[in-house]
Amino acid sequence: MTDLLDHLRAAVGDTHVLTSPDDVAAYVVDWTGVHAGRALAVVRPGSTEEVAAVVAACHEAEVAIVPQGGNTGLVGGGVPDASGSQVVLSLGRMRTVRSVDAVTGTITVDAGVVLADLHVAAEEAGRLFPMSLGSEGSCTIGGNLATNAGGTAVLRYGMTRELVLGLEVVLPDGRVWDGLRGLRKDNTGYDLTQLFVGSEGTLGVITGAVLRLFPATPRHATAWVAVPSVDAAVALLGVARDRAGVHLSTFEIANRQALDLVLTHLPGASDPIGEPSDWYVLVELAGAATEDGLDGALEATLGDTVDAGHVLDAAIASTPAQRSALWALREGISEAQKVEGATLKHDVTLPIADLARWTSEIEPVLDTILPGVRPVTYGHVGDGNLHYNLSAPVGRDAELLAAAPDLSRAIYDSVAAANGSISAEHGLGRTKAAAGASYKSAVEVDLMRAVKKALDPDGLMNPGVLLP
Ligand code: FAD
Ligand code: MLT
Ligand code: ZN
Repeated sequence: MTDLLDHLRAAVGDTHVLTSPDDVAAYVVDWTGVHAGRALAVVRPGSTEEVAAVVAACHEAEVAIVPQGGNTGLVGGGVPDASGSQVVLSLGRMRTVRSVDAVTGTITVDAGVVLADLHVAAEEAGRLFPMSLGSEGSCTIGGNLATNAGGTAVLRYGMTRELVLGLEVVLPDGRVWDGLRGLRKDNTGYDLTQLFVGSEGTLGVITGAVLRLFPATPRHATAWVAVPSVDAAVALLGVARDRAGVHLSTFEIANRQALDLVLTHLPGASDPIGEPSDWYVLVELAGAATEDGLDGALEATLGDTVDAGHVLDAAIASTPAQRSALWALREGISEAQKVEGATLKHDVTLPIADLARWTSEIEPVLDTILPGVRPVTYGHVGDGNLHYNLSAPVGRDAELLAAAPDLSRAIYDSVAAANGSISAEHGLGRTKAAAGASYKSAVEVDLMRAVKKALDPDGLMNPGVLLP
């Protein structure tokens, strides 16, 4: 292995090959703290050429690579296993915005550009890059592409795969595929770009991307709405679609347990409504600077639904600071639940029409497995995507962890029975690789293995992730 480390140092420079336990510590444990591995080395290339040299050296030495962006992934896909034999390839130094074309509506970036920096670059060009995640201050566009990330703007703009026009990828043998053409129309064969989106680092290392930009939407109408039930939230969604049309950009749900954790653990958070409710919705309409009908559309939506009994109360933001405070209630839930203690995450999608029935039926099932278990239910209800994340009964984390296999199986079985998905937006990673395969047909798993074999015949790209 000394030979490999020498090759890596020659490729990226001594200071960018980290091997001491202190230096690698932040790269080998994931955000959840559940996955803590060991690495042969962490390598930090600064260009596509350097990534290619690193990958070629690892290929030659038959050493596995774990690509890593911001390390905010929630399924353990971006950290190494416990063997100490894998190289973590961090894209953290590749942060250049290569070019912006406001007329065509494209931006070309290095894979290590942080999502929040991409927002700023788009804004400076008078455009919008719409993807929005609670982790946007740290996650990278390479990680977003590799996980096909979702977030709070999917309702209007789609998942990451709908925002990308082309990629540059270093293949497992070190060759570079330059697919950065950025054309809206290009029907010349298999769609290789889309093959790499959502591949979780198992087919190659994404080093660059051409992304779509949209007209800026500086105007917002935002409300935190108390609703009596999931059914009522779905009814509100229907009315909001009718009243706001394309301006409806966010429709997020949270149960009272989720809000309670935020109020307990997030400094400065306060309940904008006061009177407790079982469920809440964050609804936002967004439009161009010239758009002046947003407030009216929001008020009409709420008016219709209050009359029908679907809305109990609402707090409407009238300043940017109030808007940020409402968003913080939603975006703070993951962090607040982490502070509370162990979290068992389930990132599921169901047909929207089944959400109310599913949430009411699954809760008593889980309660028989672990009495008092606390579902912290929130997420992108406008996309049918719930984060059904369980916390232990207060002070009983060990019991939650012991019951985890049974709790997760009950949830996934019922999601599968309802034709849903066990991973809406976080991917499969290490956490769900086995479960992912077990809920797919044999034909689908065979096709996935065939793709993996064709691109990575030696199995060196992120082994153990996505496919068991
Ligand atoms: P990492 O965590 O570093 O890696 C994730 C996966 O991508 C790994 O398998 C890794 O090997 C691979 N990878 C990373 N970079 C590359 C590359 N350049 N080439 C090839 N493979 C690569 N996700 C959502 O979808 N929606 C949300 O709303 C959301 N909210 C979040 C909120 C919080 C508070 C947190 C902590 C996370 C949230 N996430 C969400 C999960 C996470 O932020 C996303 O999965 C994100 O896309 C990961 O980006 P990253 O750069 O941190 O990738
Ligand atoms: C979110 O939408 O906040 C995250 O994807 C959920 C999570 O942390 O489980
Ligand atoms: Zn989410």
